[in-house]
Amino acid sequence: MSNSQILKLFFLQYMFLVLRLPRLGFCAETDTITSNLVIKDPDTISSQGNVFKLGFFSPDNTTKNRYFGVFYSVSESTVIWVANRNNPIPDSSGSITISRNGNIVLMNGKGETVWSSNVTTSSLNASAQLLSTGNLVLRENSSGRTLWESFGYPSNAFLPSLRLTDNINTGHKVVLSSWKSPTDPEVGSFTTGLQALKVPQIFTWNGNRPHWRSGPWNGKILIGVQAMYSVYLEGFTLENDTSGIFYFTAPEGKFLMRITLSSTGSLVKTLWNRQTQNWDITWSAPRNECEVYGTCGPFGSCNPLNSPICSCLRGFEPKNSEKWGRGIWTSGCVRRKPLLCDRNNNTGGGGKEDGFLRLPFMKVPDFPEQGPSGPVEECRSLCSRNCSCIAYAHVTNLGCMFWSQDLIDIQQFSGAGEDLYIRLPSSELGTYSSVVFDNLPFNV
Ligand SMILES: *[C@@H]1O[C@H](CO)[C@@H](O)[C@H](O)[C@H]1NC(C)=O
Ligand SMILES: *[C@@H]1O[C@H](CO)[C@@H](O)[C@H](O)[C@H]1NC(C)=O
Ligand SMILES: *[C@@H]1O[C@H](CO)[C@@H](O)[C@H](O)[C@H]1NC(C)=O
Ligand SMILES: *[C@@H]1O[C@H](CO)[C@@H](O)[C@H](O)[C@H]1NC(C)=O
Ligand SMILES: *[C@@H]1O[C@H](CO)[C@@H](O)[C@H](O)[C@H]1NC(C)=O
Ligand SMILES: *[C@@H]1O[C@H](CO)[C@@H](O)[C@H](O)[C@H]1NC(C)=O
Ligand SMILES: *[C@@H]1O[C@H](CO)[C@@H](O)[C@H](O)[C@H]1NC(C)=O
Repeated sequence: MSNSQILKLFFLQYMFLVLRLPRLGFCAETDTITSNLVIKDPDTISSQGNVFKLGFFSPDNTTKNRYFGVFYSVSESTVIWVANRNNPIPDSSGSITISRNGNIVLMNGKGETVWSSNVTTSSLNASAQLLSTGNLVLRENSSGRTLWESFGYPSNAFLPSLRLTDNINTGHKVVLSSWKSPTDPEVGSFTTGLQALKVPQIFTWNGNRPHWRSGPWNGKILIGVQAMYSVYLEGFTLENDTSGIFYFTAPEGKFLMRITLSSTGSLVKTLWNRQTQNWDITWSAPRNECEVYGTCGPFGSCNPLNSPICSCLRGFEPKNSEKWGRGIWTSGCVRRKPLLCDRNNNTGGGGKEDGFLRLPFMKVPDFPEQGPSGPVEECRSLCSRNCSCIAYAHVTNLGCMFWSQDLIDIQQFSGAGEDLYIRLPSSELGTYSSVVFDNLPFNV
């Protein structure tokens, strides 16, 4: 089959058509909530083109608790945003409208506010529109000014045109946050967001601890995501504005695409297959133990095809060999022999006797520092002259990257990835004195 035939099949399978489905309850012929319109459970409103709906739902396999949110018209149990995540209504008495002070308010049967968009405003006229992207936007009527939008407070779903953001001046981030369980939208322990300071990367955190890391953005792909080297991936973008806000997003496409953060911390990318009426999983992370952040500890490297999956980088040995032998790798590895160039006191004549070992096809470690955009030789000479520098890489579109902290969250990919150069004493480089081109990077 030619590429264009494959592409055509792909289009037929995933391109979404607007379907008119039988509906329960009342579906208003509008995409806008106004102060004159009260949406009562089980009424819904639809976005233009009927891709998304806004209304009440109970999570899969539950009947009691009612939540207000946004879901797909073709797949009503697929919820992309939930308003009252931590405050369900225990019956079907809920209703939603625009309050006198211009907020979206969700009320229970007793007229108590269960959830509100909670923007502080003086009394004004506002209305909330469900856009065709799935974003619910509250605007002031007279000026059109956006007061609040659901994409600014995502639940567990990343959609085209939703932006994960990081303001490097204030630290404010827009992140995904997991559900507590597949049947409970309460805020769970995992979040996914952009960490833009120094070299931008995407992280999933479990509380404050990193759980998964994408590797740096190189202008086209996230270099720690192996699938991105080969698969067409909707052209994600990462941009920044002059006020220090960085945005990671995907443009609107022809397919129904979403990336969901599961309650166990996995990102799962799915496309709606209109032939089978199912969501096809096209990517997920972490997919195995190797992809979990720091599985092999400092100076350890992970390869899911090896057994055991963790090994020490060449020139390093397990910090605690007894634990390491039992498969507890997180304490990682330590140098077998000191560098001539000591990163704590910069002795060793600029480390002229140390060399660099090339490790091909790698997911580069965390805590990279951005260097100049020059050629790989420049990266090496800058790193070589600075005893704090213990590893470098030269990445297309990014230029030099340097590492001065413990090297952590390293993976060996197969057939794709970056060249990572690590500083080793000459005695660990065998007969080579400088850069070694070696395809057997690890001790056995
Ligand atoms: C609403 O916002 C105020 C401050 O802007 C905050 O103190 C309060 O906790 C918020 N209420 C809810 C329900 O989020
Ligand atoms: C809201 O709109 C109504 C009718 O359009 C108008 O009478 C009222 O003054 C407006 N209120 C505000 C605060 O602008
Ligand atoms: C605000 O704007 C919406 C949409 O244009 C309109 O339906 C609604 O009546 C307006 N509200 C008021 C109070 O003017
Ligand atoms: C709902 O129940 C069905 C049948 O037991 C099960 O296959 C499905 O995974 C459940 N869904 C969730 C979200 O738990
Ligand atoms: C943001 O992008 C501009 C180019 O659009 C660049 O000049 C600027 O240095 C960037 N800001 C930061 C903080 O990286
Ligand atoms: C500096 O590093 C050298 C070489 O490793 C070592 O012999 C020396 O003791 C270190 N000096 C200090 C003050 O740490
Ligand atoms: C040496 O490297 C460290 C870490 O990369 C960096 O902070 C420092 O500025 C460098 N020193 C010089 C003189 O380049």
